[in-house]
Amino acid sequence: MSDPAARAGVITEISGWVVRARAEVPLALREVVLVGDERLIGEVIALNRGEVTIQVYEETEGVAPGHPLYATGEPLSLELGPGLLGGVFDGVQRPLRMLAEQEGDFIGRGSRLPALDREKLWDFKPAIEAGSDVEPGRVLGTVMETPALPHPIIVPEGVSGNVKWIAAAGPRRITDVIARLDDGRELTMLQKWRARVRRPVRERLVPDAPLITGQRVLDTFFPLARGGTAAMPGGFGTGKTVTQHQLCRWAEADVIIFVGCGERGNEITQLIDELPRLIDPRTKRLLAERSILIANTSNMPVSAREASLFTGVTIGEYYRDLGYDVLLLADSISRWAEALREISGRLGEMPAEEGYPPYLSSALAAFFERAGRVVTLSGGHGSLTVITAISPPAGDLTEPVTRHAARFVRTFWTLDRQLAAARVFPAVSTRASYSEVPPGVTNWWSSQVSPGWAAAREEAMTFLEEASRIEETARLVGADSLPERERFLLRLADTFQEGFLQQNAYDAVDACCTPARQMALLETFMRVRREGLEQIAKGTAASALPIDFAALQRMKTAKELP
Ligand SMILES: Nc1ncnc2c1ncn2[C@@H]1O[C@H](COP(=O)(O)OP(=O)(O)OP(=O)(O)O)[C@@H](O)[C@H]1O
Ligand SMILES: [Mg+2]
Repeated sequence: MSDPAARAGVITEISGWVVRARAEVPLALREVVLVGDERLIGEVIALNRGEVTIQVYEETEGVAPGHPLYATGEPLSLELGPGLLGGVFDGVQRPLRMLAEQEGDFIGRGSRLPALDREKLWDFKPAIEAGSDVEPGRVLGTVMETPALPHPIIVPEGVSGNVKWIAAAGPRRITDVIARLDDGRELTMLQKWRARVRRPVRERLVPDAPLITGQRVLDTFFPLARGGTAAMPGGFGTGKTVTQHQLCRWAEADVIIFVGCGERGNEITQLIDELPRLIDPRTKRLLAERSILIANTSNMPVSAREASLFTGVTIGEYYRDLGYDVLLLADSISRWAEALREISGRLGEMPAEEGYPPYLSSALAAFFERAGRVVTLSGGHGSLTVITAISPPAGDLTEPVTRHAARFVRTFWTLDRQLAAARVFPAVSTRASYSEVPPGVTNWWSSQVSPGWAAAREEAMTFLEEASRIEETARLVGADSLPERERFLLRLADTFQEGFLQQNAYDAVDACCTPARQMALLETFMRVRREGLEQIAKGTAASALPIDFAALQRMKTAKELP
């Protein structure tokens, strides 16, 4: 953010992080202003003649009426460029790790450090020659952001012309000029983008493949498309956070963005501590090298929490535009919606359902619509997949946040309290979850894994439905009075739960399951089902079937499977 240009007004009223001021110069809506002598970062959220309402992204203690207000003349925007990977930022992209190093654990108010390191040298390799015509998205050159991830430097939106000069190969800072156009404009590796505005693409594409998560119940039964959206509602302690951490680690994405949004501070601290040590199963390097953490914990200002989702999604779009498959995880959008509610309340807006502002739904839409698979301006393919946890109060799925989110997502993973209580993890309810499986996802499984995928999945769904009906009957009449066929299916369903649906996040082999293994397990279970049913039809008793249920259950960690 640039330094304050000029004094712009005087503070008249402070109510928490909502501050009112009398403007002395014209200010724009959504302009960034600096509040008080400490120059706290704020954003203009309402203008009424000379009165300005400002949302401050920091604690406002000590700010008083009569204190000055400064204008920056710029909207809230994010820094995009090499150096984001491995970063830990707050909701308005302040670099938390660097701030902590500079100021100790406490993040000082008014701390003004740029998001991206200005001193670090990147080994720039030009990709074009002087004299080339360029347009937005054109790759000027590349730096290796990490040893595994090349970072193309692209021409920003709104810039085109003829390149008069391009930097030679060599070490450059992100603010060094790397190209000069014939009209004199200078380009660097650093770009700015407004968090609330979608980044342009050449074309939006339909999903063509699943985002493999390595979690059997998700990939096989409720698959998520690459570039798709998923919501994961679950009551207290049902495994939302652990599941998201699992996905961080195992999902097949090039770049992971984790937005810790209003959740417990200690969980985020733990993540910040652990992340740099985790080994990436794909690259065998550090997971931190391809992940970005945005942390706005419950003890940090609510206003920055509201911004954090958009900060995350904008950084996600940026890596998508560089041609990568990006996964954004948010834990949880309920806490984000609470921030929206609190802000709206402070502004004295008319509340709608359960105190949330009437624009809750459109705000959620503005977030989810930024997921997708695209042809980038550079002509490559990229995707941004979004997975959000939801913490519905009392696990009630009819509450507004869950209900509205459900309208915008194609994949819905409901975590079940009873399963979690029985320590069945991941506690994904096969009854209350669903996924619209696009043809591209089915084609991927059929061509890459097994032509029988759709049929096996269909058969397994039918099996699960029937088993759950039998279970209910058994509860009423007792398992002993069930016919042989039902007894067998119930027994097999129990084995299937332990041997397929259940997956231990803390087991070295079981934590991640390849699509091929998922398919092999599924086919085996379905074959056992068909053969068992045939035998029973011929008169064999369920207890006399030659099936080794214990072996079936152990198969998921068997060495001989793919
Ligand atoms: N996949 C898993 N494998 C093994 N254990 C799990 C798994 N998922 C959750 N658990 C267990 O459940 C506990 C609670 O999980 P977690 O903290 O993720 O719940 P949560 O839904 O995020 O809770 P909250 O509503 O408090 O945020 C974990 O500490 C862990 O013991
Ligand atoms: Mg949690």
